[in-house]
Amino acid sequence: MAGKGFSGRHPYPHEIPSPPDIDMSVPTVARTYDALLDGKDNFTPDREAAEVVESVNPGTKALARQNRAFLSRGVTYVAETLKIDQFLDLGSGLPTVENTHQVAQRVNPNARVVYVDIDPIVLAHGRAILADNANTTVATSDLRDVDVVLDSPETRRLIDFDRPVCVMLVSLLHCVPDADDPWGLVRRYFDRLAPGSALVMSHLTSDDADAARVFTEHVHELGMDWGRVRFPDEVAHAFDSLELVSPTADDSAEPVLVDCVTWRNGDVAPLKRPADPAQKIWEHAGVGIKP
Ligand SMILES: C[S@@+](CC[C@H](N)C(=O)[O-])C[C@H]1O[C@@H](n2cnc3c(N)ncnc32)[C@H](O)[C@@H]1O
Repeated sequence: MAGKGFSGRHPYPHEIPSPPDIDMSVPTVARTYDALLDGKDNFTPDREAAEVVESVNPGTKALARQNRAFLSRGVTYVAETLKIDQFLDLGSGLPTVENTHQVAQRVNPNARVVYVDIDPIVLAHGRAILADNANTTVATSDLRDVDVVLDSPETRRLIDFDRPVCVMLVSLLHCVPDADDPWGLVRRYFDRLAPGSALVMSHLTSDDADAARVFTEHVHELGMDWGRVRFPDEVAHAFDSLELVSPTADDSAEPVLVDCVTWRNGDVAPLKRPADPAQKIWEHAGVGIKP
């Protein structure tokens, strides 16, 4: 499907009925994120939730777009520079523009992508977009079930674990509560992957305890299953067993996590937090490689 006539946000017909197990009365993270991106795969409670988070933290809609642009640059880097051709996109979200398989298969038409999301609506819409793409699949799973995700027939069909894999945790681990040990989950995935495997990650982050707390409380009050906005030094633990790559394309900058807007983004200088002090929450982002 890569490169074939994707002119708008919705490259597939929209009359897909929602599966019966989808509860439209409460917001979900996937559908609210879709609403933040001005997508159409969401319902009134999701749109209301998107407005709440935008009012609590003005600029959240912009963050979602910046995060998608980071995802695209991250996948391009991994496919082009690291030559990885297998992607496990965890918490992939609803299909939008520049999905992982489209970006990766533009670089390498044989790239394989397994999309995994806890929300069944992603499977419903993903199946439609992927119907004619044999190298891509979508599954409904909880990323916390590491062995279930890695051992599922869908994953096994497309991913060769003897070769490097790119795991994507883009705008995802803030959905995972501390009690579920987000950094331990990353370790458990990478324990099972070949050296040279890569992590593309972004995470809602703040250096302002009040801003982090207020945002987190509002998301919880909306009834969504969620973790929290974390601090930069916490988020860095995702890369404890990995080697971070430089956030500049010429590899001149020290390898640290940065505001996703500034990660390998042309001439934009990498920044550990947004330049505007008024911006209290951002997507902290980076790419790491298993030595
Ligand atoms: C903010 S969206 C990010 C989507 C996409 N990765 C991106 O960056 O554009 C987070 C996604 O993670 C999914 N998610 C949340 N918790 C999850 C879990 N435990 N396992 C799998 N997916 C999860 C949500 O359903 C949602 O689609």
